[in-house]
Amino acid sequence: MTEVIIVENQDEAGSIYAQCVARLIADKPDCVLGLATGSSPLAAYRQLAGRVEREGIDVSQVRGFALDEYAGLDPSHPQSYKSTINRTVVEPLGLDPEKIHVPNGNLDTIGEAGKAYDKAIEEAGGVDIQILGIGTDGHIGFNEPGSSLASGTRIKTLTEQTRIDNARFFDDDINQVPAHCITQGIGTILKARHLILLAFGSGKAEAIAETVEGGISSFCPASALQLHPHATVIVDEAAASRL
Ligand code: GLP
Repeated sequence: MTEVIIVENQDEAGSIYAQCVARLIADKPDCVLGLATGSSPLAAYRQLAGRVEREGIDVSQVRGFALDEYAGLDPSHPQSYKSTINRTVVEPLGLDPEKIHVPNGNLDTIGEAGKAYDKAIEEAGGVDIQILGIGTDGHIGFNEPGSSLASGTRIKTLTEQTRIDNARFFDDDINQVPAHCITQGIGTILKARHLILLAFGSGKAEAIAETVEGGISSFCPASALQLHPHATVIVDEAAASRL
């Protein structure tokens, strides 16, 4: 069952996320957070960082797994998801970098990296709270339309549209955007105990309507949230406008 919360702005959405995570850490100091890149989760990370600082929450044992990574991009590249997660989550929250994992996009080992990543998540006891953004085409992580709803972490080809969307991070040059990625599968994502999907702006309205009210279909990967027992979709008025 998908719960939908309509908020005034991104900070309000972020404070709901921060509240959920703060409660989780109080109950389980070594909890496992599922982390995402993109602009949608940024206010949530900011709100959480503010709470951690104000309340002196001990995050030293918190563990984390990111959703995805570009293939063939050096982890030290500023636009790698490894660097992005460090910059937007690990550093502002003061997490232990050793406890935060990002899929390995090294082309020499990528064939095996997906299974190893899923195994590492399982051995950590699974993800407690997974934060998610959504692509305008309904993708979650880098699971583009057509992805199997039961998929595990694996290599995927990025669609032309996603490469065009992401060219803004690569000097507006699509040729610099990697063509492939490694992403948690939809099946992997669905194993997290609580999913929190954030979407803002009218550009996401159609994808949100499909996610919440459309049929469950690989054409809208995020519609798989309807299969999850505890999924929360937090949207502003604009993203909710087609509901
Ligand atoms: C990328 C990421 C997704 C993210 C999406 C939307 O494709 N791999 O995880 O949800 O972008 O990004 P934004 O939140 O900036 O709209």
